[in-house]
Amino acid sequence: MSEKLLEVTGLKKYFNVGRNQTLKAVDGVSFSIEKGKTLGLVGESGCGKTTVGRTLLRIYEPDGGKILFNGHDISRVSKAQSKELTKKMQMIFQDPYASLNPFFTVGEIVAEGLEIHKICKTKKEERERVEELLTMVGLSKDHANRFPHEFSGGQRQRVGIARALALDPEFIVCDEAISALDVSIQAQVVNMLMNFQRELGLTYLFIAHDLSMVRHIADQTAVMYLGTLAEYGDTEEVYSHPIHPYTKGLLSAVPVADPDYEKTHERIHMDGEVGSPINPKPGCRFCGRCPLATEKCREVDPILRDMGGGHMVACHNV
Ligand SMILES: Nc1ncnc2c1ncn2[C@@H]1O[C@H](COP(=O)(O)OP(=O)(O)OP(=O)(O)O)[C@@H](O)[C@H]1O
Ligand SMILES: [Mg+2]
Repeated sequence: MSEKLLEVTGLKKYFNVGRNQTLKAVDGVSFSIEKGKTLGLVGESGCGKTTVGRTLLRIYEPDGGKILFNGHDISRVSKAQSKELTKKMQMIFQDPYASLNPFFTVGEIVAEGLEIHKICKTKKEERERVEELLTMVGLSKDHANRFPHEFSGGQRQRVGIARALALDPEFIVCDEAISALDVSIQAQVVNMLMNFQRELGLTYLFIAHDLSMVRHIADQTAVMYLGTLAEYGDTEEVYSHPIHPYTKGLLSAVPVADPDYEKTHERIHMDGEVGSPINPKPGCRFCGRCPLATEKCREVDPILRDMGGGHMVACHNV
């Protein structure tokens, strides 16, 4: 039996945005990730992907739901426990420049977590660990003395990865970690992440806009729409047999280099705008844009149902 590293049920994160308005960024999201595997999280801008990642890492306090990490409930933890958790759960950010402090050398940036958690007994030991980490991500030891602005985007992202690996984490949220990079560099960084996963047994939540990249890297894929999950399951299953009208719409916007596929698959155009997550109306969040929407969709929230083999879909009409 495969073991679950993370089990999330009914996760909620709301923001108070004034004048009695509540922005429901994440509104009842459930999924799990097996140890050593990758869950891809996709969906349009503003649907709540980053908020899911930050809430899992306890950067945000959840407003509801449960997060089990290695079987322990981490949805309510003390400051001290939260500090302990940051060792095991790390994040790699989209913008490798903004996320690195320009006044620190790369060595200091990578060593920061080691110092906070007092991992190394001596300065020499810390220095050696930093050099080891830089070498692991394909940089050289001498890079430790340089500043972030002296690096290319791809190299900066390697620094971000070295920093995330410093504390031997078990789980990493990669939030658009490669989106800002050139296509050729993206492939290098993705391959590096996949190698680390194999070698170190890491588990990833891989957040991305790029559906083809997610198909390549993720064992399972979750499709998010305005704070909720529309569909979720094994990546190949979700990509080759999408069921939710939103997933179909998203995927049909991705060009596929296969004329047979293009002939047999309908293109679905999604009309209208993504709705607002502020004080959302009851019912399916997608119903304003959905070709299948009925009266029921406007009134009753669809819940994720297993359509077979763990392929979960939240839709009344499929
Ligand atoms: N700290 C915050 N305070 C108030 N609203 C927030 C905050 N963080 C996020 N939001 C809102 O929550 C919603 C979800 O944002 P989030 O950043 O999680 O989306 P996303 O899916 O990561 O988008 P993108 O693909 O653009 O990165 C958005 O409407 C956003 O404006
Ligand atoms: Mg985001």
